[in-house]
Amino acid sequence: MIAKLTIERKRDGREIPAAELREFVAAYTRGEVPDYQMSAFAMAVLLKGMTDAETAALTDAMEHSGETVDWSDCPLPTADKHSTGGVGDKLSFIVQPLAAACGLAVPSLTGRGLGHTGGTADKLESIPGYNASLSLAEFKKVVGEVGVSMTVQTAEIAPADKKLYALRDVTGTVPSIPLITASILSKKLAEGAGTLVFDVKCGRGAFMKTRPEAEDLAAHLVAGAKAAGRKAAAIVNSMDEPTGRAVGNALEVKEALDVLAGDPDSPNDVVELSVALAAKMVELAAGVPSEEALAMCSARLADGSALRRFEAMVAAQGGDLAAFRALDFEAAFAADVRAEKSGRIASVDALGIAEAALRLGAGRGAVGDEIDPMAGVVLVKRSGDEVRKGDVLCRLYGSRDKCGEETVMCALRSYEVES
Ligand code: URA
Repeated sequence: MIAKLTIERKRDGREIPAAELREFVAAYTRGEVPDYQMSAFAMAVLLKGMTDAETAALTDAMEHSGETVDWSDCPLPTADKHSTGGVGDKLSFIVQPLAAACGLAVPSLTGRGLGHTGGTADKLESIPGYNASLSLAEFKKVVGEVGVSMTVQTAEIAPADKKLYALRDVTGTVPSIPLITASILSKKLAEGAGTLVFDVKCGRGAFMKTRPEAEDLAAHLVAGAKAAGRKAAAIVNSMDEPTGRAVGNALEVKEALDVLAGDPDSPNDVVELSVALAAKMVELAAGVPSEEALAMCSARLADGSALRRFEAMVAAQGGDLAAFRALDFEAAFAADVRAEKSGRIASVDALGIAEAALRLGAGRGAVGDEIDPMAGVVLVKRSGDEVRKGDVLCRLYGSRDKCGEETVMCALRSYEVES
């Protein structure tokens, strides 16, 4: 296998035979294809696309670049939810424990930040002591004991995706349907859950900007999962505006904890979408009729069962929620962004808010960059709210030296105020 020829074939828009793709991925996993060649290949795929057969071969090669998990000894139906990535997307912290509280086993391998989106693992690591890098054996143990575990894909699971994911993040090669499909499916199939529910985001703050693109990605994900013998469904959700109010690692965990605790001020979008996604998992995995699954999920969220599962998972993975709850968010406060005129908020651009959060240190600009767990943005005002000139639109958190004029302007420009 000569990597350069595979890259050139894709560059010229020709189809790559399955065996060649498998070899290319295997060589990359072994370190024989360097990152610069894989970057060129990823860009060629982004620009030229892939046939369904190529996407299936790439998925299969990435899934089998490491171990696959077998849950046949698990007495409960297994299910997981995966989001294609958005801004302020803290739903996993609610959906996964909620599904576990409804009687499912939820093994959930998550990612780090990608592009402008935050990573579930990075967010969880804002909980002091939380180990988001479990070994496969530890992951299985936590799922067995608590019913739910969230960790980054272990070194054993889909290592090709692990390497490629980090590379795509910094080479502008994220928004490609074949690459996203292969990335998500390879780790989700290797993770072994019998049911997969995909939360496919579309809009300004998503990788898929339009609904037809998001529906195409959803169809690829569901078809790929079903072809691999899993039950699967996808829900396409708008990501023009951030989900909920908080964007940033610790800030999002805090908001999710408030939702789990039944805070009456919880953002409706977070509550409704979490219940819908968990209910879809329960419906497919346990064969519960859809209305009943929705009622069950609403009840288990309201009665604190989902919160208890989340707390048990955090404890089992070494996290200290008391220390998290004691974090001093006011000390991390950097600036308020105020309305320049009175009116009604017509929209809040998710991408602009994500950029402000990134500038504040909530995400990575390059592979290996440190993130500031306390950095981010809290939307005080959201679409539809009335504001008066001088009112606080959003609050910025992070170190003050990262909160210059440009960061404030970036957050301010994200708000469209109609007078
Ligand atoms: N989530 C993933 O796991 N992979 C992608 O490529 C995009 C979102």
